[in-house]
Amino acid sequence: IQIKPTSIVVFGGTGDLAKRKLFPAFFNLYMDGRMPSQFQIIALGRQPYEQESFRDYVHENILAFSRNTNFSQEQWQAFQDHITFHKAHIDDDSSYDDLNMLFNKNDALWGERGNRLFYLSIAPSFIEQVSSGLKRFQLADDVTGDRIIFEKPFGYDKSSAIRLNKLLANTFHEQQIYRIDHYLGKETVQNILAFRFGNSIFEPLWNNRHIDSVQITVAEQVGVENRGGYYDHSGALRDMIQNHLLQILCMVAMEAPEEFESEQIRDRKADLLKSVRRIKREDINHYTVRAQYDAGQINGLPKKAYRDEPGVNPLSTTETFVAMKFYIDNERWLGVPFYMRTGKSLQQKHSAVVINFKDSTKTKFPANKNSIENNQLTINIQPEMDIRLSFMSKQPGLDMEMTPAQMVFDYFQCASNGPEAYETLLLDALDGDSTLFMRSDQVEEAWDIIEAIQEEWEHGDLSPIYSYPAGSWGPEAADELLKRQGHRWLSSF
Ligand code: BG6
Repeated sequence: IQIKPTSIVVFGGTGDLAKRKLFPAFFNLYMDGRMPSQFQIIALGRQPYEQESFRDYVHENILAFSRNTNFSQEQWQAFQDHITFHKAHIDDDSSYDDLNMLFNKNDALWGERGNRLFYLSIAPSFIEQVSSGLKRFQLADDVTGDRIIFEKPFGYDKSSAIRLNKLLANTFHEQQIYRIDHYLGKETVQNILAFRFGNSIFEPLWNNRHIDSVQITVAEQVGVENRGGYYDHSGALRDMIQNHLLQILCMVAMEAPEEFESEQIRDRKADLLKSVRRIKREDINHYTVRAQYDAGQINGLPKKAYRDEPGVNPLSTTETFVAMKFYIDNERWLGVPFYMRTGKSLQQKHSAVVINFKDSTKTKFPANKNSIENNQLTINIQPEMDIRLSFMSKQPGLDMEMTPAQMVFDYFQCASNGPEAYETLLLDALDGDSTLFMRSDQVEEAWDIIEAIQEEWEHGDLSPIYSYPAGSWGPEAADELLKRQGHRWLSSF
């Protein structure tokens, strides 16, 4: 695709996200020949870098964080010419004047008004200021070519998200707004839609007649590390469930769009979120479990308790683990429990979706040691990247003995050095494809789903906060949540 010349502005150009994800992603797109033929990345930051020292800093970070570190000096030289550092203060009008000048310079060089892509990698409290600056200085007034990418958290709760959406709606057109959820850029997450809708054999089974329950796990081995200050005001419900896990849920459970087209896909996802049954405040204890990690061991090394992490209140009741059960009140999913869990400082990094099928076999096989196990489809998102279908098979031999077997599609084999989530998403934003970005209504619905839980956990007294040792799989209460319906957490390792 031929993308118009583009000026890319990174607010927070010296921040952590730019360092670890954004610059490596731009560089990899460049190496793959996917950047626009003419582009300039303008990194804005408060630190006093010189052009050269900033480029060196980006070079170091690419060597440290990019999937592609095998490049020549010439290739780096050619890429670094596309980077400009500019010292800026977002509350200083002269910074917007400067931006205007830089745009004009680029446009003059390209002989046309280029597109503009603004990446707001800044604390949420600055969003209003930057948006109004862009508006006042008319820097993003080409509705079709100028786009603004917003990082999470998108609001703090439902009302703040609505307020933010209103503010942005007064400033930009919805089609210019790209709300990023990097999970949607992951290959294995995108593949869920390809798998469901690109094949004819799975979709007929994808409903409550054949599916017993669904599990979504996003387990992290890392703790809060140096993000205690942010995380202690967020917690796992806001940080992971409201966005990443609910987005995965949409991919797994949404209805099929008639065409694989941005607005239709986003409509179907919003419909799904609307049909998620809201948990009443008095039932929260029955549907949710929250917990915080205590001291423990991970990979044989001691790990301190969450409350002892830097930046965390020593009396904090912020949850670092959530397990919960959802129902979806539509024809397809009525009665099927969707279990979700996510947590930090767990035993392993492991994200997966497990579809647990009902037992609808009619034939009684002769009694044998191995009873029939229900079919399971496991979609491993990371770090394993595969799809596994478990089924029963005849054990080779003279008797009709049954044994579980698996069919495996190893995504990793074809995508081991494949694009990272941010590459996919940045390319889509450069190209004006918003399919993998969240629309305002989706964000608000997602907040609505967790609103009662947030309120109860913050102000109520119905719901205990459990603890779990770092390096475990979470509190026992999370197992109890499933046991009540004869389920257990299923993992593929
Ligand atoms: C971020 C959360 O959105 O996602 C972090 O704020 C979390 O707390 C991260 O660690 C997980 O992303 P990934 O891609 O490493 O699974």
